[in-house]
Amino acid sequence: MIKVLFVCLGNICRSPMAEGVFQHMVEEAGLADKISSDSAGLGDWHAGESAHRGTRKVLQENGIDYAGRARQIRQSDLETFDYVLMMDASNMDGVQRMANGSTKGEIAMFLQYAVDAGTVDVGEVPDPYYNGRFDYVYDLVERGSKALLKHIRQQHGI
Ligand code: 4NP
Repeated sequence: MIKVLFVCLGNICRSPMAEGVFQHMVEEAGLADKISSDSAGLGDWHAGESAHRGTRKVLQENGIDYAGRARQIRQSDLETFDYVLMMDASNMDGVQRMANGSTKGEIAMFLQYAVDAGTVDVGEVPDPYYNGRFDYVYDLVERGSKALLKHIRQQHGI
């Protein structure tokens, strides 16, 4: 199984949205037996909570079921996941500090694949927790997930 982890700060807005959208694309591509996804946050303030209502609303509007609960990232995640994908540069700093040089998989910015493909023009997913722009974030997450799935399919020949 190819294991993908999406990481943000609180694990209630951006990374659960990415997990839901990406997993939905994986299922639609018939690859659910080959690729699995999860999400986590650098902070523990929301551990155990369901996703933010803005994230749940936009996922629901797009026909995506999501029932995940927030959790904090653990060092063992970095030894388990094949792809660890951060929403912004601050998340990347936190994960790199936690990794301390040793990781199993590919550690990257989530939007990097879409930036490389020319389908988005920003490198970070802005936090809708502070500005409520869940629809804009959904658009970025959809483009990011599409480019990520293409990258993984190419890397693994699936
Ligand atoms: P997220 O958004 O990182 O996209 O889940 C946030 C959610 C909560 C907080 C910060 C960001 N917070 O400070 O509680």
